[in-house]
Amino acid sequence: MRGMTNQQQIKHLTQTAMVTALIIVLGFFPGIPLGFIPVPIILQNMGIFLAAELLGRKYGTVAVGLFLALAALGLPILSGGRGGAAVFVGPTGGYLAAWLLAPVLIGTLLQRTHAAEAQNWWRELLIVWIAGIGFIDIVGAVWLAVQSNMALPVALLSNLAFIPGDLIKGTLAVVIARRVRSVVDFGIPA
Ligand code: BTN
Repeated sequence: MRGMTNQQQIKHLTQTAMVTALIIVLGFFPGIPLGFIPVPIILQNMGIFLAAELLGRKYGTVAVGLFLALAALGLPILSGGRGGAAVFVGPTGGYLAAWLLAPVLIGTLLQRTHAAEAQNWWRELLIVWIAGIGFIDIVGAVWLAVQSNMALPVALLSNLAFIPGDLIKGTLAVVIARRVRSVVDFGIPA
């Protein structure tokens, strides 16, 4: 935060807290169980995409990290009102770990490719689809295979069930983030 005025710091921290709150609110929507794997379809991962797109790698990581820390402490803020440290070593632990890394990945790519510029919307969409959805679902599937003693190809194939919904959530996140950034200065370099 060197070189930042107090006012800018307060603005960034307020925006970060608001995005953490948004991730929590998205968890109010209960997950849809799939039956064949112990991982539900949820809305909350859209909040992770939004954190990365609105706040960039540094504050996006702070927003997601704060959310995960509160969940680990036992606050019932994961979809379906779950929380507690045990969730992090359960079947969905890989997705949660990937959520923490996603803002660095997405934020860095957005910055390096100038994808936040108005005409580069398709780059932003591709980054969220690949570095957000692809990365999170693959890390999640790998951990799921290890944790649940499932063959990796089966875990990866099962995750295909998330792709249609995730593509819709990722696309919505890009549309929303672009609209929000056009009216609120989040200070993320294009
Ligand atoms: C949890 O609440 O314990 C984390 C659930 C993770 C669900 C993952 S996120 C990516 C994929 N898309 C979904 O809709 N569900 C899975």
